[in-house]
Amino acid sequence: MKGIESVATKAAGEDMTNSSIERLVYRSRVVHPAPMTALEDILPVAQAWNARWGITGALGYTGRTYVQLLEGPTESLDSLLERLRSDLRHTDLRVLARGPAAGRLVTGWSMARIDLTLLEAEVTALLDAGDGEGLAALLAGLVRRGETEAR
Ligand SMILES: Cc1cc2nc3c(=O)[nH]c(=O)nc-3n(C[C@H](O)[C@H](O)[C@H](O)COP(=O)(O)O)c2cc1C
Repeated sequence: MKGIESVATKAAGEDMTNSSIERLVYRSRVVHPAPMTALEDILPVAQAWNARWGITGALGYTGRTYVQLLEGPTESLDSLLERLRSDLRHTDLRVLARGPAAGRLVTGWSMARIDLTLLEAEVTALLDAGDGEGLAALLAGLVRRGETEAR
């Protein structure tokens, strides 16, 4: 935990809007239980952890797929990605986009939850094209329009 603690000190002491921020988009396959049930457990933990480590973003899901937009300091993203990769509640995690971001697409949400079921065709097309930036824009647009289910 020592490495993590040093990140905490740094994150807490920085102006998150000016420190270097990275944007990451991944997709993974849903594993039982279905997203609506799994997210009841996942979201409270995710929101608390993300708030502490300077991560904001949105977690979308269809019946089969999770798509998550994560924005925050590099160390926080690395640490979270490692835990996400070993989380058995999803599988086949694939990073679609990652890189420096001039600013956050999503602000004020430690993790917004978005039901993408009705947008499945659009989401599938973006996934098939491997278009992480397109998926980030889609999720961020939905958050801005208030199409979220939890703060
Ligand atoms: C689809 C999905 C998205 C998740 N998103 C986050 C997240 O944004 N932040 C977070 O801290 N944990 C998230 N988690 C949970 C982590 O994988 C992990 O279980 C949690 O951080 C607790 O880690 P620990 O059990 O090692 O303490 C997510 C899990 C899944 C399946």
